[in-house]
Amino acid sequence: MPKRRIPLDEEGFRLIGNACGTDKTLHHGYQRFYPQFLAPLRRRRKLAILEIGYGEGKSVPLWRALFPQAQVICLDRDVSESGEGYEVLKVDQSDPEAVAAVVDRIEQPVHLIVDDGSHVPSHQLSSFSILFEHLLVPGGIYIVEDVETSYWTNGDVYGYPTRFGLHSPWSAVEALKLAVDYLNRSCLAPQDKTLVEHTLSMAGLSPTAVGLISMLTFAQNCVIATRMQPDHLAFMERPYLYSALTARE
Ligand SMILES: C[S@@+](CC[C@H](N)C(=O)[O-])C[C@H]1O[C@@H](n2cnc3c(N)ncnc32)[C@H](O)[C@@H]1O
Repeated sequence: MPKRRIPLDEEGFRLIGNACGTDKTLHHGYQRFYPQFLAPLRRRRKLAILEIGYGEGKSVPLWRALFPQAQVICLDRDVSESGEGYEVLKVDQSDPEAVAAVVDRIEQPVHLIVDDGSHVPSHQLSSFSILFEHLLVPGGIYIVEDVETSYWTNGDVYGYPTRFGLHSPWSAVEALKLAVDYLNRSCLAPQDKTLVEHTLSMAGLSPTAVGLISMLTFAQNCVIATRMQPDHLAFMERPYLYSALTARE
């Protein structure tokens, strides 16, 4: 008897996530947002998913149930292991060089990247800057989970102090908000475009990586970015039709 395919909609994602015991569904309710982005990945014959943060390994069976064809690669500071359809590489996300080395290590194209690692805003931004540009395929999806830490003013996460808060210069949410202005860079006067690029860099987000975003979604506690197809770049770089209306002295 062929196995029944789990529907990749809110209910299907919730049921399988809860069965796996992952807080993605049990606590965060990410089933409300992810299915519409992930459903097209089902059509791929070959699929690779990279997740930062293995934890107790509860999301691996979730990904494997939804995408039986997928190879899941996890990065974790504390774990190194492998099993059927998955591998965990011991990598410290706080070290950008270690994250960059992963790009050389992974040979297959990666279609989905999920950052559920340290949740430290600077790590979320540096990992995005490296992996979005150098590992994710055009059309691929990048999800930064648990951006709640950007609002924390006390405490710690995985041993890292969390002294951020609303509008903090170290907030990942604030940095990613700037990406919205860069998505609309074709409407910016040259000096405003330069200012946004500079501010992105100061915030810890690579303008080159951000320049490859085609769509950006802010949802409760997560941010989802889609990587542009190369032939869509022309829309971003063409002279603005109304440039006289946005010019600066
Ligand atoms: C929230 S858990 C992952 C949960 C898992 N993705 C799931 O859905 O079941 C976060 C993991 O990130 C790991 N972690 C914390 N700091 C890290 C760092 N600097 N680099 C890599 N992994 C880190 C923790 O050890 C922990 O295993």
